[in-house]
Amino acid sequence: MNEIHQLRCTGCLRTVAPGEIGGNFRCGECGELFEAVYPGWHGPRHTLPNPSALRWLWRERRMSLEAVDRSGVWRFREMLPVLRSADDAVTLGEGNTPLYDLPQAARRLGLTTLRAKHQGMNPTGSFKDTGMTAALSVARENGFAWVACASTGNTSAAMAAYAARAGIHSLVLLPEGKIAWGKLAQAMDYGALTLQLRTDFDGCVRVLSEVVQRAPVYLLNSVNPYRIEGQKTPALEIAEQMEWEVPDHVIVPGGNLANSSALGKGFLEMKHLGLTNRAPRISVVQAEGANPLVRSMQEFGGERLEPVQAHTRASAIRIGNPASWRKAVRVIQQSGGWVEQVTEAEIAVAKAEIGAEGIGCEPASAVTLAGLKKLVQQGKIAPDESVVLLLTGHTLKDSDYTIRYHRGELLTEAESAGLQAELNATRRNTIELDASVEEVLRELERASR
Ligand code: F0G
Repeated sequence: MNEIHQLRCTGCLRTVAPGEIGGNFRCGECGELFEAVYPGWHGPRHTLPNPSALRWLWRERRMSLEAVDRSGVWRFREMLPVLRSADDAVTLGEGNTPLYDLPQAARRLGLTTLRAKHQGMNPTGSFKDTGMTAALSVARENGFAWVACASTGNTSAAMAAYAARAGIHSLVLLPEGKIAWGKLAQAMDYGALTLQLRTDFDGCVRVLSEVVQRAPVYLLNSVNPYRIEGQKTPALEIAEQMEWEVPDHVIVPGGNLANSSALGKGFLEMKHLGLTNRAPRISVVQAEGANPLVRSMQEFGGERLEPVQAHTRASAIRIGNPASWRKAVRVIQQSGGWVEQVTEAEIAVAKAEIGAEGIGCEPASAVTLAGLKKLVQQGKIAPDESVVLLLTGHTLKDSDYTIRYHRGELLTEAESAGLQAELNATRRNTIELDASVEEVLRELERASR
């Protein structure tokens, strides 16, 4: 299948064969990132795959006993023909994640349809698994002995797990003291060489881009175009779960800005192939303290991006110099979406509200609900329009954050100002008692009043 795809530079648009790309996945001519393209999809209509046949095949594969067929990435393999053989796929049964209703949040916002696509329900607890199965499988087909990434935690967890399954060594660079414990634990548990550098995420990326030039390691950050191919499959699943309709809006958290690009690519390709008849607006939400894309759009119309020193407790998106910002700008502009930013307190409240729906997510995912509130207030999303929030990580990734929030230890007074009612309504501190029936009954009665 390898001849079917090419890599095209998103800057100067030149196309190269997969084997010609350099180890840092940047164009030798203009420095921009590549994306996978499939020349066969641009012939006359009758030569394109039949949409009804594809839809049927993808659903049927879920009943197969083959792991590669059941995977929520590889059952859509006609949309990502990047391996010589699909049997080479390294899979942990990723994808096939739930699309939940959020009835309480919908009611509060006056929306008829609000859903959450929960990518935290993947094997390592984040959306990174769908991209990792694709790129790691390419690494194995190409015979690499080592793979590497710089990460705010989730990429490293996913890479370490898939590398372990493939029998490949993995090198993880993490910003010391700046990632959630659950994620650090995963990299160690899955056996990665885990190095914590005294810098931030952007500093780890700088070091790794030198390392991959000097050592035979395969780079698995999201500049790797095969990651994007895997990460576009949630768009296919959303469409399938909505009977091949698409929502009016999809809202995504923004960090290194690969995921927004991947989903945009997925929705546009589906439309191109006639699987759906339109694409949703895709909006990206960042934390106020880590908002280089918001600034780029506001100050330079998305033409230029100035890196920022990033600060937010949503450590997954504590990124000041996002690699895929040009791709994200293109998706937002093409789809008619927006960028929005939210405060630390808005993130914390939104996270507690998603928890109270019985779903939960990690802090970075909750920026989607916090951003949605603003887009509704501004009249950019109408009550009868359907919305899907992309929840990127599982609530157990960062339980420290959750516990500190409910104990009232997370936010400063200044951060909480103006949101006291929401904070009081969502906090659920635990109460410590003696092992006494009377005391438990007293608490039960108090809570039922
Ligand atoms: N949500 C979570 C939970 C993440 O881990 C990330 C990124 C994002 C959102 C942002 O996605 O980078 O595609 O815009 N985490 C990366 C990592 C950077 O290293 O795990 P993005």
